[in-house]
Amino acid sequence: LALLGSLAARLYQVTPPPLARRLSRRYIAGQTVKEAVDVASRLKAHGLLATVDILGEGVTTAAGASRFAQRYLETLAALREAELQVHVSVKPSALGSLLDWQLCEEHMAAIAEAAKLGEGFVCVDMEASDAVPGTLALYRRLRSRGLDNVGVVIQARLHRARNDIVDLAVVRPNVRVCKGIYVEPASIAYGDREAIRRNYVFCLDTLLRSRGFAAIATHDEALVVAALERLVAHNRGTDSYEFQMLLGVRDDLAESLASAGHPVRVYVPFGEESQQYASRRLRENPEFAAHVVRAYVGAFSGKLPAAPLKRTSETCERADVLLEGGERAR
Ligand code: FDA
Repeated sequence: LALLGSLAARLYQVTPPPLARRLSRRYIAGQTVKEAVDVASRLKAHGLLATVDILGEGVTTAAGASRFAQRYLETLAALREAELQVHVSVKPSALGSLLDWQLCEEHMAAIAEAAKLGEGFVCVDMEASDAVPGTLALYRRLRSRGLDNVGVVIQARLHRARNDIVDLAVVRPNVRVCKGIYVEPASIAYGDREAIRRNYVFCLDTLLRSRGFAAIATHDEALVVAALERLVAHNRGTDSYEFQMLLGVRDDLAESLASAGHPVRVYVPFGEESQQYASRRLRENPEFAAHVVRAYVGAFSGKLPAAPLKRTSETCERADVLLEGGERAR
């Protein structure tokens, strides 16, 4: 898989931009803010919410971080103008965290203040494990500045996720729970799929118990079923949680949850750095390569393939295993 990932990353890097755009168009809204707004409007017509992300990370100059912050402010304005819910996802390293966390905090606070005007929301994305302590501290500082329209992400893959969610619980947090996209060493992260799922359910349970807002970010049907049970067990109303999925991944599941009355938000990335972003993702997580290879096959055969569906019975069995020993819905 590692070899496949690195081969796919190289192949993607030398792919001519028009073909690369075609390959990624299912997962990336486009290059401009207008394209992102158009996608968010289309989602709205299907009963789905959006969170908009500007592609790019690892900014290493103060000027670059300011440019990024400015683009986010423009994005907030464009969403407001289109009468869409103002909701963005921001990576700390796009706002200069690699240079100086204080600089990053000022930019993040300015974006959150601007979002607040339109009752908007800012989710601070979580990057690789070395950024976790700084990002959690950033989240706490933003909250202590009175910015309660910000959220943070917990990655269930990490051993530390359990402690982090318990610590966060006291501030009644807004947390997106995901598995974590970054490949991390075995000394700090679970590699086993079931272990990650169990940690995910523990984190979600702790969050639901804390009265914080739960953003359930997954396309894993077993986790979706487990989350649905947990929401009933914790007597959660639709104003206190949402499901989240990535653009182009399991649209069928997103629409099905939405039509059953659950809030569903789709992560809508856009920007000029799509090719760099995708090839970085490929190097970081070889499993992503399989999706890109499928996209290549689809592009050359004229259509992009749908993400595979899991068998329902298998999904339910999985959910039962996850719920075993836990606090089951009655
Ligand atoms: P899993 O990887 O098992 O996927 C389940 C199924 O979904 C797969 O079998 C496949 O069919 C499909 N699938 C998943 N990913 C796909 C893809 N890219 N293309 C096509 N099909 C795909 N991570 C992080 O480290 N920091 C963050 O801030 C965020 N933010 C974030 C926001 C949102 C809204 C989502 C949905 C995800 C993230 N992630 C993230 C990514 C997350 O950590 C995780 O890597 C992916 O969601 C995949 O994990 P699943 O739980 O979907 O399970």
